[in-house]
Amino acid sequence: MERLEYSKTVLEHFRNPRNVGELEDADAVGTVGNPVCGDMMELSIRVEDNRITDIKFRTFGCASAIATTSMLTEMVKGKTLEEAEKLSWDDVVGGLEGLPPVKVHCSLLAVDGLKKALYEYYKSRGIIREDLNIKGESEHEEEEAVKESGPLV
Ligand code: FES
Repeated sequence: MERLEYSKTVLEHFRNPRNVGELEDADAVGTVGNPVCGDMMELSIRVEDNRITDIKFRTFGCASAIATTSMLTEMVKGKTLEEAEKLSWDDVVGGLEGLPPVKVHCSLLAVDGLKKALYEYYKSRGIIREDLNIKGESEHEEEEAVKESGPLV
């Protein structure tokens, strides 16, 4: 089996992930599943004056998912909602100095989790943004899976 080469930044974020956990007083929570590997991601955000002032994540994902989401939370904190929704997997992977190509789908889990959290935030204010509504497994199934097993991170 071929050994994957990870950048020092990926390894550092994997070993010391930032913003892990769940915000108790979150304004919105987004949960998504990765269609490629079946792993899951939950991102909770706090929003004040149209800015993301705090963000935390929990995941069942792999080392790349942990590193990319850790990087994403650092990049997104303090950004306006409009700036946050423009963040792409390319931005996050660039911040990590690259990912092995077979692991790029893991970075989508982080970005999709953020989009879903933004979708839920807007929805709670009566605004439906279908472009941010990431589809995956049913939300009920996702909630049950988290309750039964608990997250790895
Ligand atoms: S292999 Fe599933 S998120 Fe990376």
